Amino acid sequence: MTGLTAYAGLTAVAGLQKGDVVFISGAAGAVGSVAGQFAKLLGASRVVGSAGSAQKVTDLTANLGYDAAFDYKQGDIAGQLKAAAPEGIDVYFDNVGGEHLEAAISAFKLHGRAALCGAIAQYNASEPTPGPRNLALMIGKRLTLKGFLVGDQGPVRQQFVQDVGGWLAAGKLNAPETFVDGIENAPSAFLGLFSGGNTGKMLVRLDG
Ligand SMILES: NC(=O)c1ccc[n+]([C@@H]2O[C@H](COP(=O)([O-])OP(=O)(O)OC[C@H]3O[C@@H](n4cnc5c(N)ncnc54)[C@H](OP(=O)(O)O)[C@@H]3O)[C@@H](O)[C@H]2O)c1
Repeated sequence: MTGLTAYAGLTAVAGLQKGDVVFISGAAGAVGSVAGQFAKLLGASRVVGSAGSAQKVTDLTANLGYDAAFDYKQGDIAGQLKAAAPEGIDVYFDNVGGEHLEAAISAFKLHGRAALCGAIAQYNASEPTPGPRNLALMIGKRLTLKGFLVGDQGPVRQQFVQDVGGWLAAGKLNAPETFVDGIENAPSAFLGLFSGGNTGKMLVRLDG
């Protein structure tokens, strides 16, 4: 499911073209950890990711296909994105919302496209969160921001199986997983998703 989400978001929703510069937030999560690799295999010229620790930033560039990455917890997301993609971005795959989305809108080149997949920075907010303050940039830059649900992406499935199946068979993909042992630890595994406890898919492992 997370693989199809990444693939459909990049292709059917954001319309990734060869040579595009791509930015992906939540880059070390279940979706982001494969989205960066898919983007490169689909022909992106540069793929930038953001994640919440120095270790994850290292993993993104060493093991998960990203050309550059930064730790959003160090602050100045817009500045860090500009440093990582000085010419701007064509595609933004948004897993996070909030300040990340605002930074991407500022970084977009003309005709930039965003696939709005998730907004995890806002899921636990106790009051409505402010929207991006720079939406007016969408006009002059002719931007497209498009939300999607993987459940609607059936038409992409066949191409997904063909492309991703081929990449898997050729050993071109790395799909990290984080295991938590015991059903009694399922609640803490779930809560760990909100504090960055996983790289790749978070899985609860049951005995025999
Ligand atoms: N549209 C769809 O059909 C669809 C399908 C699947 C998933 N989703 C959504 O897509 C997003 C990614 O899903 P996933 O399964 O890859 O997620 P995941 O594996 O659950 O990863 C969650 C990661 O998000 C990061 N995070 C948590 N709180 C954050 C915050 N306040 N700001 C920035 N990053 C934060 C954490 O990593 P750090 O250490 O980097 O903070 C955490 O490891 C989620 O928002 C999910 O709800 C949408």
